[in-house]
Amino acid sequence: MEKAPLLLTIAVLGGTGKEGKGLAYRWAKAGYKVLIGSRSSERAVTVASEIMELLEGSSSLVGTSNLEAAQLAEIVVITVPYSAHRETLESVKDVLKGKLLIDVTVPLVPPKVTKVQMPAAGSAAQEAKEIVGEGVEVVAAFQNISHEYLLTDEDVECDVLVTGTSKDARTEALRLVDAAGLTGWDAGPIENSVVIEGLTSVLININKQYGSTHAGIKITGASQKS
Ligand SMILES: NC(=O)c1ccc[n+]([C@@H]2O[C@H](COP(=O)([O-])OP(=O)(O)OC[C@H]3O[C@@H](n4cnc5c(N)ncnc54)[C@H](OP(=O)(O)O)[C@@H]3O)[C@@H](O)[C@H]2O)c1
Repeated sequence: MEKAPLLLTIAVLGGTGKEGKGLAYRWAKAGYKVLIGSRSSERAVTVASEIMELLEGSSSLVGTSNLEAAQLAEIVVITVPYSAHRETLESVKDVLKGKLLIDVTVPLVPPKVTKVQMPAAGSAAQEAKEIVGEGVEVVAAFQNISHEYLLTDEDVECDVLVTGTSKDARTEALRLVDAAGLTGWDAGPIENSVVIEGLTSVLININKQYGSTHAGIKITGASQKS
């Protein structure tokens, strides 16, 4: 994994959960300063110290409220269930101006999580863009990455398709994909996130039918070597 500049700070809202904790682990390991955000600062502090323990104390991780994490970071990642997506974004949107928001949310509507059910905005990421408004770049990424192996150093057999509101935003997010030890692809404008978010229901369906826990996707026929 590539070492990142230590000054760059990433907030992971809902970083106490399965996906956020795994991503936080990988970014902290790569040298980023990571702020675990939560509705409960206490819970965030506990999770931050659990990750520090896994990393044997060598990394920079702090637990705090979602709002303070978003305030202090340059890059804000949201990893909460879709049912909490709007509320969480509303609670931090005033401190997001000029920052990059990376949305990991899949708009699953339980109990039918194997069925694609997109929101009126088109996708969760497009809905996020509507909520946070002008002055915030929004990227959708990691929706197809199961949390299963994120808290380990194992290779994850799934690529990351990155869509977003600008090429620069996607390039910045692709740096974080790389830092997490994953393979990322620029998958185009934020409107394309509908396909990638929807794909997660397809993967959950495959997991259910074939008894797996982390079905993934790989791009073939293209190479990143120049
Ligand atoms: N799990 C995966 O393998 C996976 C893979 C790809 C994408 N995703 C997507 O990533 C997102 C997070 O998934 P997850 O499995 O990590 O979820 P999770 O563990 O169920 O929840 C993540 C965090 O969200 C916060 N949260 C939960 N309910 C909330 C509520 N009602 N209001 C506000 N905050 C709430 C909690 O943090 P606090 O209680 O500390 O505030 C919780 O720790 C989802 O949108 C999911 O679809 C997950």
